[in-house]
Amino acid sequence: MTSIELLLQRQSTPLLTTPAPNHHDLETILAAGMRVPDHACLQPWHFTVVTGNGLQRLSDLLVQSSDSQSANLEKIAKMPFRAPMIIVVTTEFVQHDKVPSQEQLITAGCCAHAMQMAAFALGYGAMWRTGELAYNTKVKQGLVVKGHNEIVGFLYIGTPCREQVLKAPKSFENKVSYWQ
Ligand SMILES: Cc1cc2nc3c(=O)[nH]c(=O)nc-3n(C[C@H](O)[C@H](O)[C@H](O)COP(=O)(O)O)c2cc1C
Repeated sequence: MTSIELLLQRQSTPLLTTPAPNHHDLETILAAGMRVPDHACLQPWHFTVVTGNGLQRLSDLLVQSSDSQSANLEKIAKMPFRAPMIIVVTTEFVQHDKVPSQEQLITAGCCAHAMQMAAFALGYGAMWRTGELAYNTKVKQGLVVKGHNEIVGFLYIGTPCREQVLKAPKSFENKVSYWQ
């Protein structure tokens, strides 16, 4: 797959299974996450790699943090098991005169995107998810997200359960204007 094919064919993989990225591939994915545009090189992000027993730990955290009714709690408990690996991308805002937290949030979002792309390039599937629990104070505390920091996303990574049909490309016609 060429770089352009990778960019033009990116799509999410909702159904994921084992194997998760091996140690070497995980390091490549994390390195891609570190290689993002980053104003003033603040590295305003943190990655929490969740695998194995960590998935149960995350499941417990989501359930304990949720005030939902029992039927929904069952669904919530299963969420982390939708993939064998989750990378939780969170912000680590740095106080800086020229780089507002808005820019730092965008940079952390780029991390999630870059890691999804790296996962694809290595033959894995991935899906970026948030949901209301990403904004839940107790979930944030459990993931040691301090102060005004944010959970940018839960990047689910694994092996696609089945071969994916490539979605049709989206037209950019109504999304672009030209100054010439
Ligand atoms: C910040 C962010 C949060 C997202 N959260 C969810 C989510 O919680 N659930 C979901 O189904 N899709 C979520 N998505 C969208 C999917 O990752 C995916 O992009 C979307 O389903 C479109 O599919 P595609 O990536 O194949 O184009 C989120 C995307 C972003 C950028």
